[in-house]
Amino acid sequence: MKLVVTGGAGFIGSNFIRYVLAKHPPYSILNLDKLTYSGNLHTLRDVGADARHTFVRGDICDRRKVQEVFSTGVEAVVHFAAESHVDRSIMDSAAFVKTNVLGTQCLLDVARQAGIKRFVLVSTDEVYGSAPAGEKFTEESPLAPNSPYAASKAGADLLARAYFRTYRFPVIITRCTNNYGPYQYPEKFIPLIITRALEGQDIPVYGDGLQVRDWIYVMDHCTALGAILHNGREGQVYNLGAGNEWPNVEIARRILQLLGKPESLLTFVQDRPGHDRRYALNSEKAEKELGWVPSTPFEEGLKKTVDWYLSNGDWLQRVAARGYRSYYRKQYGRREATLAEILDQGGKK
Ligand code: NAD
Ligand code: TYD
Repeated sequence: MKLVVTGGAGFIGSNFIRYVLAKHPPYSILNLDKLTYSGNLHTLRDVGADARHTFVRGDICDRRKVQEVFSTGVEAVVHFAAESHVDRSIMDSAAFVKTNVLGTQCLLDVARQAGIKRFVLVSTDEVYGSAPAGEKFTEESPLAPNSPYAASKAGADLLARAYFRTYRFPVIITRCTNNYGPYQYPEKFIPLIITRALEGQDIPVYGDGLQVRDWIYVMDHCTALGAILHNGREGQVYNLGAGNEWPNVEIARRILQLLGKPESLLTFVQDRPGHDRRYALNSEKAEKELGWVPSTPFEEGLKKTVDWYLSNGDWLQRVAARGYRSYYRKQYGRREATLAEILDQGGKK
């Protein structure tokens, strides 16, 4: 199969490319990525030499570029490319609407014209908004996004639905919970805790820290996407959850324990505006139809993730340090300068 992956230089997309190349030797992948702050070719260093993977730098909003890519006998698309961080969307939502809504519309249009046989849209559980205590969202739950990020993803999600209803374009939509694992940009909570704890820097916990997220190890998300790409039903939505619900402060404590760092690093800061209290999904549909279940226990996934960041200091230095530091300057008005030095020492400071 000839596959286009958008956003394959980012966190989940790069893990998915690794997964596909290992699992399906005859497949080839065209990876279309703009290389924004969160995408980087160092993330793909281990697949760079694989002839089955071709990197194309380009914007999903650039119709001509997308047409070029889709004119090469592509059979299927797995669409990850997005602006992905809620806090950034609160600071400025323009890029979110452009990439997530208009970029997706451009991809859908060109893919339809090119006669693509399958289009998997990687949406998110955040389109449902906050889950009341004791309840889990099903695929039929109403969409009620609360952040500009979630609203822009809901826009893409609904456009994809409309392309199926209107044109019978073969779209499948996935809504997954919070991912964690290797290669995640350290503005997101888990790698942020790890990198800041390694530096001995305070860890900002928003509000009371009792917001709940359901954490899925990134490879479990990739196996679900693989199953959906091959066996999902056109026009359907699939929730993908892991049943690992933990309050944020508990996640932070566990990571500090794994790193042997003190809890005194936890610093409760002003809450995120519009902060969703809880995300929780019912993913029985994916289990029943696709036989998919997440297989990584949270303790194991968290340990693997912490170990990965400890032994990939060079990746952090090259990929993340610059953008991460300037982001932190903006967010907290402080200069972050020590990450590279500390990782040079294997995180032992
Ligand atoms: P990420 O920010 O790590 O990666 C996004 C990638 O998209 C980057 O490589 C970036 O360069 C690329 N990109 C951004 N704008 C682009 C554009 N206009 N044209 C081409 N490429 C562009 O994000 P991620 O965490 O890997 O998320 C991937 C997808 O999964 C997103 O659609 C996100 O909404 C969705 N998702 C993420 C999570 C999560 O927990 N991270 C959970 C559910 C769904
Ligand atoms: P994040 O990784 O940004 O994912 P999302 O907002 O998409 O769920 O955040 C996960 C949770 O961690 C969320 O409840 C916000 C919280 N959080 C903090 O408490 N401090 C932080 O510095 C960050 C980035 C997030």
